[in-house]
Amino acid sequence: MGLKLDSPIVVSACTLSEKIDNIVKMEDNGAGAVILFSLFEEQIRKEEAAVKFVLSKTTNSFAEASEYFPDLDDYNVGTDEYLENIRLAKERVHIPVIGSLNGITNEGWIDYSKQMEQAGADGIEVNIFFIPGDMSMSSSEVEHRYLNIIDNIRQSVKIPIAVKLNPYFSAMGNMSLRMKKAGADALVLFNRFYQPDFDINEMIIKTDLNYSESNEIRLPLLWIGLLYGKVNLSLAATTGVQSAVEVVKYILAGADVVMTASSLYKNGIPYLKTMNKELQDWMYMMGFDDIDSFQGNMSQQKISDPTAYQRSNYIKILEGAK
Ligand SMILES: Cc1cc2nc3c(=O)[nH]c(=O)nc-3n(C[C@H](O)[C@H](O)[C@H](O)COP(=O)(O)O)c2cc1C
Repeated sequence: MGLKLDSPIVVSACTLSEKIDNIVKMEDNGAGAVILFSLFEEQIRKEEAAVKFVLSKTTNSFAEASEYFPDLDDYNVGTDEYLENIRLAKERVHIPVIGSLNGITNEGWIDYSKQMEQAGADGIEVNIFFIPGDMSMSSSEVEHRYLNIIDNIRQSVKIPIAVKLNPYFSAMGNMSLRMKKAGADALVLFNRFYQPDFDINEMIIKTDLNYSESNEIRLPLLWIGLLYGKVNLSLAATTGVQSAVEVVKYILAGADVVMTASSLYKNGIPYLKTMNKELQDWMYMMGFDDIDSFQGNMSQQKISDPTAYQRSNYIKILEGAK
């Protein structure tokens, strides 16, 4: 994304960044950058609907509006407060502050990327969180939806754009090239997709939040390892980082930065310092002076046996189970 960072360990979008003091703590403990919690399309739309509602009323508007507004309390912060958070964060820290937009359509709400830029954001992460459960929607329609959103944001801002993706594309490699063409500067792999669980006694869908585990790095690791050196995009890894071990693995696969959220909820923000120290210790032990010396060394492009990323490795794994 063209940003120079002091550390490749970056705080992933999460509610910890709702408090400016936490962002300061992230910087103090060595975060390379912070992605702010997301501003959601639903939240923006609800605010717009409320404003329209008030403007459309000539009498008794206050009483009716005040009945409507409490619904907005369900959300973390309003759009004005979000933009104010960017401004305040930029006053207090030197690390890059990236605004996050989270939605699925191509209208209206993405205008907020411009306002984030004006508020001082160093970049925009757009999280297109979308489950294509509509049986009539084809894969190319899904892909166009992503590309249109990226293209529209590209038209509105000059700051770099990162796209946070889910892993379910038929042709991730080709899609990456097309996202680059549409205006993306970076990919964030992958969204920890909403996957339901059932409570079999209450017969309801559970909506609890589970923090990630280290074995969840494998899917992003695969795709970062495959894409490294083949697309002119920065690559950010997200999901499963619990310690410097996963940070090192992701960088070896080819990641430019490695993001973490769950580990900070489990261990507190100062854990960033521990991870940075462990990363430095590992680099020292291995004789690497900088990140460039080992970034991508285990990618498909650089390893001696590129088939290790493909079907032949799968057959080897099955043979090993005999
Ligand atoms: C409490 C919590 C809040 C999150 N909020 C957001 C969000 O607002 N926007 C977003 O794109 N991702 C959000 N995420 C997802 C994280 O940014 C991250 O991609 C995901 O948790 C995987 O990383 P991890 O394994 O380090 O937790 C959130 C995650 C957690 C745990």
